[in-house]
Amino acid sequence: MGKTIIISNRLPLQINISENNKVEVTPSVGGLATGLKSFHQEGDSIWIGWTGIAEEDIPAELEDEVEAEVKKQRCVPVSLTSEEIEKFYYGFSNRTIWPLFHYFMEYTEFHNEHWEAYKQVNEKYAEAVVERLNDDDVVWVHDYQLLLLPDYIRRKKPKVTIGFFNHIPFPSSEVFRTLPWREEVLKGMLGADLIGFHTYDYERHFLRSVNRILRLDINFNSVNVGNRVVRSDSFPMGIDYKKFRKAAKDHKAQPRSENSDIQKKLDYHKYVTRNTKLILSIDRLDYTKGIANRIRAFGYFLEKYPEYQEKVRLIMLAVPSRTNVPQYQLLKKEIDELVGRINGKFATINWTPIWYFYRSMPFDNLIDLYTSSNVALITPTRDGMNLVAKEYIATRTDQTGVLILSEMAGAAHELNEALIINPNNFEQIVDTIKLALEMPEEEQIRRNKLLQKRLKRYNVEKWAKDFMKSLDNTKDSKKAFKAI
Ligand code: ADP
Ligand code: F6P
Repeated sequence: MGKTIIISNRLPLQINISENNKVEVTPSVGGLATGLKSFHQEGDSIWIGWTGIAEEDIPAELEDEVEAEVKKQRCVPVSLTSEEIEKFYYGFSNRTIWPLFHYFMEYTEFHNEHWEAYKQVNEKYAEAVVERLNDDDVVWVHDYQLLLLPDYIRRKKPKVTIGFFNHIPFPSSEVFRTLPWREEVLKGMLGADLIGFHTYDYERHFLRSVNRILRLDINFNSVNVGNRVVRSDSFPMGIDYKKFRKAAKDHKAQPRSENSDIQKKLDYHKYVTRNTKLILSIDRLDYTKGIANRIRAFGYFLEKYPEYQEKVRLIMLAVPSRTNVPQYQLLKKEIDELVGRINGKFATINWTPIWYFYRSMPFDNLIDLYTSSNVALITPTRDGMNLVAKEYIATRTDQTGVLILSEMAGAAHELNEALIINPNNFEQIVDTIKLALEMPEEEQIRRNKLLQKRLKRYNVEKWAKDFMKSLDNTKDSKKAFKAI
């Protein structure tokens, strides 16, 4: 078997050019990048994708340096112009597919020029792949920005083995069929030999759409497309359990010395307001994550259970994301206002109810937050998986801590011992916060033991291996199908 070619819109690294004309490299934030990075680091793969910067923003004299930085991580850059970024990335990917697949139909826009750009950029990725492809290589395409890519590669290389993994929900066929380009999108995905989803529900929605829209018969979890068999399956993505575990243990043995804002806040929390419990929330700032409702629910909690005033604090980390899309800008404003309103209403001289950070954080600070928090409050209205929930559990080395998790996150299917809530049910969230804060330690430990056991076993390595093994089997049955 040859190498694996991973393709995702965004590479696991982000290039920036500083004001004094220096190349800066930072890790990308988001489930796909953080999860797949471990698989990539350990295997014989190359990773093709975008560096997060527009082609025009890289000065000519720095091009070689950028390329060298990317190459260091066995990555291959696909350069996108600012027009492509606007129409393909902010446009079709994040104003059409993203809201539609997360059931935000009122945010979904249908623009023909965005669709044209989407096709064009998927074609660009196909060329980048084919240029580096040997006959025995395996191609693994990721996520909703590249739904057409499997078919585009297949047309150029009919025999190649292609896997596709969708990291976001696949909506009900009732919602999906509103998309004007629904046939092309399904045909694009069906260029793959194996199509993976985080949950069984997303997979069923996809197969139902294929059946209704393309009128193809579904045989359990496979579809005959011309002379090919395409299979689908669910593979819930895990985390690099060992990495989080080790970081948490190291952190306990020797708290890091970096003098960050987060650390100062946590020290204040620990030494000055020592009887105050900490509730943590971490997400990209995205309307699917239910951040505004979470803040409202926390405010309501302080009102409904006033005995908790000065006894609990919400520490909220939001990473800037897709800042050119109007809904993200509006949400940022709404969150700023809500945080201000609640802090203004309840704060005392010694206590601010919400500590809010709007920025990306180094890994060490994430570990600080995970290990210092009594409760993690994760309330998306829709989320393909949600790795933050899994990371929080993995870092609880003494097995205390309570996870409150929305049933709308893919992760809720696996993390049954968490306190599962409906993110639209305010009373339930508020009462569950109380339940979490009052849960006896033995009960926390009982639940986390089970959760950790599962996360340790079904980690990101196992996820990738299972997918690859299944892709290999699909290839074998492809041969058998031909022989009949
Ligand atoms: P999504 O893929 O939608 O962003 P996930 O919860 O699956 O959501 O993944 C988010 C990933 O990004 C996690 O691995 C998490 O550790 C990382 N992350 C989240 N917030 C930050 C932050 N402020 N700084 C750095 N990394 C972050
Ligand atoms: O959760 C969906 C997802 O595409 C992740 O797979 C990805 O890591 C994250 O969103 C970040 O998105 P973007 O590339 O737009 O910053």
